[in-house]
Amino acid sequence: MTQPSSEPVIYLRGRFVPDSEASLSVRTHAFLYGTAVFEGIKAYWAPERETMFIFRAEEHFRRLVQSCRILRLKAPLDIRRMVELSAEIVVRNGCREDTYLRPIVYKADRRIGPILEIPDTVDDFCLFTAPMSAYLDTHKGLHVCVSSWRRIDDNMIPARAKCNGAYVNTALIKTDAALAGFDDAIALSDDGHVAEGSAMNLFLVRDGRLVTPAVSNNILEGITRATVIELARKELGIPVESRQVDRTELYVAEEMFLCGTATEVAAVTRIDHRAIGDGTVGPITRAIQDLFDQAIHGRLPDYMHWLTPAGTPVLSSQD
Ligand SMILES: Cc1ncc(COP(=O)(O)O)c(C=O)c1O
Repeated sequence: MTQPSSEPVIYLRGRFVPDSEASLSVRTHAFLYGTAVFEGIKAYWAPERETMFIFRAEEHFRRLVQSCRILRLKAPLDIRRMVELSAEIVVRNGCREDTYLRPIVYKADRRIGPILEIPDTVDDFCLFTAPMSAYLDTHKGLHVCVSSWRRIDDNMIPARAKCNGAYVNTALIKTDAALAGFDDAIALSDDGHVAEGSAMNLFLVRDGRLVTPAVSNNILEGITRATVIELARKELGIPVESRQVDRTELYVAEEMFLCGTATEVAAVTRIDHRAIGDGTVGPITRAIQDLFDQAIHGRLPDYMHWLTPAGTPVLSSQD
């Protein structure tokens, strides 16, 4: 394995190159039309084991391949190889703190025209890392609003695909919430039902049960969402309902939290200037946060299959 270099490396066009050399033409189709799909993956430093663990890497790359299918992109590498490269880049970049990995499959063609099926075209894969600790304060109890922007619809730009261009919707939702003084925002789908946060899924507690918008409600099928559902059912014995959620259910919930790769599990204690429950972080939210924290750091023996240790022997991808 190559020693960590001082300048981070990026995987681009089939090889690792220094960050300063990883550039693309302004004519790139993905830059002109947003025709790329991506994943956000976290790797966590586990101090007891002196190693980085990548959380649910395989599931992220499976979703990347699904996003490719929706956008008619051809991932140039298979899932196993993309997982290997992720383990390798964490070591090459000498990461020893919580780190975000961003793999992207993008339409690299340089011809003008917003069409997805281009003869003799090339779709490429790139991957970079960035240090990332907390995206939101997970424990303070966030104040969110319901956004005046609606979530993109499955028949417009599918929310199920993690498509680069679709993050303009996220940026509008997130920015207006921040400018209005909120920590984040909940987006409704075009029919007025709750979809998700700007870049995270949403859970409510109602009558001691967890409730989350269904996968058919214009949400990203979140990997953290699936993690929370599994931990809640198996470890806490809490029933989970995945169903259509009305806006006013947000106002009468006992607890609320947001979850996602960057967000992790973040407690929400106020929405649209109304307290949620008694306005403090509730016991179910705390229990889920605690289990999630143990899982990502390799402290739950039954869930070690979710973790890929960085530095796992990998095929040489360069030289
Ligand atoms: C729009 C959107 N919803 C939900 C999520 C949460 O998904 P995951 O838990 O797979 O990161 C994300 C984060 O990537 C997102 O961008």
